[in-house]
Amino acid sequence: MTRTAEPRTVLVTGAAGFIGSHTCMELLKAGHTVIGVDNFDNSSPRALDALQRISGRSLDFVEGDVADPAVLDRAFAVGHVNAVVHFAGLKSVSDSVRDPMRYYRVNVGSSISLIDAMVRHNVWRLVFSSSCTVYGEPDVVPITESSPLRSQNPYGRTKLLIEDMLRDVSAADPSWRVALLRYFNPAGAHPSGELGEDPTGTPTNLMPFVMQTAVGRRDLLRVFGGDYPTRDGTCVRDYIHVVDLAEGHLAALDSLDVTGPGCNAYNLGTGTGTTVLEMLAAAQRAVGHPIPHEIVGRRAGDAVSVFADPSVAAQALAWKAARTLDDMCSDHWRWQSRHPWGFGRDAADKGFAHAARDERSADDKLTDRGGALRQG
Ligand code: WQD
Repeated sequence: MTRTAEPRTVLVTGAAGFIGSHTCMELLKAGHTVIGVDNFDNSSPRALDALQRISGRSLDFVEGDVADPAVLDRAFAVGHVNAVVHFAGLKSVSDSVRDPMRYYRVNVGSSISLIDAMVRHNVWRLVFSSSCTVYGEPDVVPITESSPLRSQNPYGRTKLLIEDMLRDVSAADPSWRVALLRYFNPAGAHPSGELGEDPTGTPTNLMPFVMQTAVGRRDLLRVFGGDYPTRDGTCVRDYIHVVDLAEGHLAALDSLDVTGPGCNAYNLGTGTGTTVLEMLAAAQRAVGHPIPHEIVGRRAGDAVSVFADPSVAAQALAWKAARTLDDMCSDHWRWQSRHPWGFGRDAADKGFAHAARDERSADDKLTDRGGALRQG
């Protein structure tokens, strides 16, 4: 979906992350100027190299932590920032249960730091990376933006807290124009095969684990629960292609000039629920061979069925997800099979040291089994 809008200078926090890097790609392609900020705590500088190589355009970049006011002042000083897209933050539900204060410190702390910096620099347009986890376990699906907000884990509660902060600042000062984007389950990769999800350590999310199993980095996919009240006994989610999601951010940026002052929330999902086994079947179609898997016990905290009613975004943003499950799986497989180890274990990739230990143990396992990485 190509959008024509006035070129603007957009500051993107978490620019090297999975959704951040794909959004920077779409911003550059649309002719916007991008100033990226990232501390590479959970991402790689190689993602920035890839997105500049593929887009044929360069971005400005400031390395550092969004929680540090001096880092943000340096980034705002690079150019005349018109709007901010805020991705930077931690995003593992299970990690947040283990270490909640780290999630409050990083996710909420960096958002407070960003809001203060935007006021200092007289910038009032913000697109915030929120999440469907703000809804918790829904009573009714599909989920609308008016569904109850009642997250059930520290990660989701940080997202809800940041949303509440942004609703409050928007109510206090009509200068603010804020879009809260509630993602459902991001999946897939850039069709070039050069940009994709590269979680640090062992993936907790389904699709990275599926594709790392398909390429031989993991031995077995464990399907968490086969006895749910769904069409095949496995949980239902709304998987959305990361490029559809990135395009949704550009649509939200454009909407800020139209909707005027205020703070609006939008579900970014496809509106279609897919079970784990259905997603696994689509992945097997894409990789062209069976993916070793076993149905085991349920994972604590999993909701039975979560999928979006995306009609508000369709109407207010003129945006609709266009890519299919097969697109998500074929694009993800192209990325994973060309880059089995993601952006690599090079020591130059900050934040990847601990991942290398995991990779080495996986390597050892493969060598012991005489296994070889399956290529695409
Ligand atoms: C999906 C399904 C698992 C791994 C995610 C993000 C959250 C938010 C919403 C953005 C579940 C099953 C998983 C595995 C499995 N996104 N599964 N084996 O829990 O819906 O939440 O999307 O903010 O941040 O965490 O996604 O990918 O972890 O699980 O069977 O090895 O896949 O039980 O049914 P979830 P997920």
